[in-house]
Formats: sequence, C-alpha cells, structure tokens
Amino acid sequence: MQNITIAIDGFSSCGKSTLAKALAHKLNYKYIDTGAMYRAVTLYAIRHQWIDTEKNINETALIQALSEIELGFVNNAETHHSDITLNGENVEQEIRLMPVSSVVSKVSTIKEVREKMVALQRQMGKRKGVVMDGRDIGTNVFPKAELKLFMTADPEVRARRRADEYSSKGQYFSLDDIKHNLQQRDQEDLNRKENPLIKADDAVVLDNSDLSREQQLEFVLKLVSDLQLIRREPPLH
Ligand code: DC
Repeated sequence: MQNITIAIDGFSSCGKSTLAKALAHKLNYKYIDTGAMYRAVTLYAIRHQWIDTEKNINETALIQALSEIELGFVNNAETHHSDITLNGENVEQEIRLMPVSSVVSKVSTIKEVREKMVALQRQMGKRKGVVMDGRDIGTNVFPKAELKLFMTADPEVRARRRADEYSSKGQYFSLDDIKHNLQQRDQEDLNRKENPLIKADDAVVLDNSDLSREQQLEFVLKLVSDLQLIRREPPLH
C-alpha cells in the first residue's frame, strides 16, 4: 500500500493524539504531535520568564530566540511513543502541565512562531507515511493530505477526559476550571489571525463523544482502506 499523509485537526481534548498514535502504530507511520511543538516553545518562554502572571508575552525576546530553539522527537522505550525534546532535553511531561496549557494558545498566535513550526512540520512529513495532529494541518501544513479528519466532541466529555488525564498524573483541578481553560483555548484557536482552527472543506468530521477508541480506529482504518482502493482503481478512460 502506498503511504499517505493523514491530517487530524480539531478542538483541544477531543482525543486527537490518542487516535493519531493508534493509527500510526497500526499503519507503521510516523506520528507528529504538533501541539507538543507549540507547547515546547511555550515552555522555553516560561523558563526565560518572558510570560508574566497576566499572560503578557515578551514577543520580541521570544522571536529573537527562535533560532536557538531546537525541537525533536525521540522514541520512548516504555510507552513506545515519541517524546518531544527541547534543545536535547526530554520535556514530554513538563509541557502537559497547567503553566504551559494555560498560555500555549496565546504563544501559538505569534506569526513567527507559527512560521517556524509549520516549516519544521512540513520537513518532518515530507516523505508521507505520517499522521500529524493539530489545528491547521489539513488547511495549512498539508492542504493536499490524502486524508483529513476534523475531530470534535461534547464539551462535557472533553473536560472529563482532560480531568482524567490530569488526575492520572496526580494533578487535580475542578471540572469548571478545566472547562474554562478549554473554552478559552477554543476561542483563541478559532479566532486567531494566523492559521485559525477551521475545518478543511474536504475533511471528514468525527464526533467521538460516544465512540470508543476501538470504534474510532476502526472507522478511520476503513477510510484509509477505501482511499487506497480508490487510488488503485484504473482511470475510467
Ligand atoms: O493539541 P494541544 O492541545 O497539545 O495543542 C496546544 C496548543 O497549541 C493549542 O491550544 C493550539 C496550539 N496549536 C496550534 O495552534 N496549531 C497546531 N497545529 C497545534 C497546536
């Protein structure tokens, strides 16, 4: 079967990365978590104290430092998934914590940050055989991706999933705080000037509020196999 590019976009905490990882594993594709890349840049800015308590960002300092930020992915032997590295340091755990989550959407509105991330993502996915998830993959990073998914889920379900994720790491927040954070990120992602979150015209919508992980995987694998069949059919003339 010919390798394709699978672009998965959608709201925060819709299970994009869970599905993307399972797909990549099943198809033996590379998985690129583009949200992790924006998170790592945000962590860099936090560590340099370029973001204050009011969430004001010293954009000039961050933009000037972009050339010093090196991102990569390394295989995690325990989870069998790839972890993100920031200048060689594995920061997979730290980027998931609330200090980063609460400001990452704002950092990702910065044009120069996006330009750097998009260029890296195109480079990483240029050989196809890749599942990439984010907010602008099907519309901007790989507008010609063979398969585009737009994931969504009920806000209550999303908040509960995020709460479970936090509590599994020993972090406890009220459901209201989590909902508020998700709503805020949705608004920022939808309304930003540079590459906002929008469904690509040719994306398949996947609302997974009531679907198990297995059902989602099965649904998408069927789309992939249909696509492969369509692509292999000889031309009609
Ligand atoms: O997928 P995530 O929740 O880890 O993403 C973190 C943030 O990064 C999200 O709030 C928006 C931003 N993001 C983006 O702007 N474009 C992407 N392709 C991926 C993420």
